[in-house]
Amino acid sequence: MEGKQMSEKAQPIKPEEVKIEIINERHIVTGFTSYEQDLVDFLIEDALQNQKLRLSVTFLWFYRSQLVSYVTLLNDKINLEGDLKEFFQEKEICYASLPALKIGRLCVDDCFLKRGLGRQLVLFSIEKAKEIHRDKAGCRFVTVDAKGNSADFYKKLGFKTFPRQTGRGTIFMHFDLLKSPLL
Ligand SMILES: CC(C)(COP(=O)(O)OP(=O)(O)OC[C@H]1O[C@@H](n2cnc3c(N)ncnc32)[C@H](O)[C@@H]1OP(=O)(O)O)[C@@H](O)C(=O)NCCC(=O)NCCS
Repeated sequence: MEGKQMSEKAQPIKPEEVKIEIINERHIVTGFTSYEQDLVDFLIEDALQNQKLRLSVTFLWFYRSQLVSYVTLLNDKINLEGDLKEFFQEKEICYASLPALKIGRLCVDDCFLKRGLGRQLVLFSIEKAKEIHRDKAGCRFVTVDAKGNSADFYKKLGFKTFPRQTGRGTIFMHFDLLKSPLL
């Protein structure tokens, strides 16, 4: 990969300027940087292996041939227990669990923050969930365990928390594909 180029002025990156590829053996991901080191470690050490094990799929985003961000997706279900059961019963949904697509990891390289890529990654994930529901399998939600400092980012994009949640460093958030104003 070419050396990483810092942008002189942070212009937004448009969706049509980005090339998206599913991770494979030929990709070199070692130049990726983030202030969230565990998300760098996951990309370098686990993303490809997890994909081979059919645990997740990782989409790499390239801008001018540079790896600028990635998102990892997997199937999920929301178990309706306790408060959640009540919450959905009020909405006349009485199943034990609800189908979802999970954003397992999502990260923008430190050199490309605040240029709209994070938002695009989330919209891409929502689009994948819609695709699944269109002709493959039911999928009502996109879910994420948001790290504390990214919860407001997801909130801005229409994700919500469930009532009376207790967090353990992450906040479980969901995006309802049925009720979203984004759709
Ligand atoms: C959170 C993250 C994905 C945001 O990516 P980004 O490309 O900088 O975000 P965008 O430029 O698309 O911003 C979209 C909107 O979210 C806002 N935003 C970005 N980061 C935010 C944050 N941490 N908290 C609150 N709002 C945030 C932006 O201001 C922008 O708002 P606007 O539409 O009103 O202008 C990025 O900071 C990142 O990769 N962080 C490290 C990894 C991480 O925390 N991932 C999520 C873990 S679950």
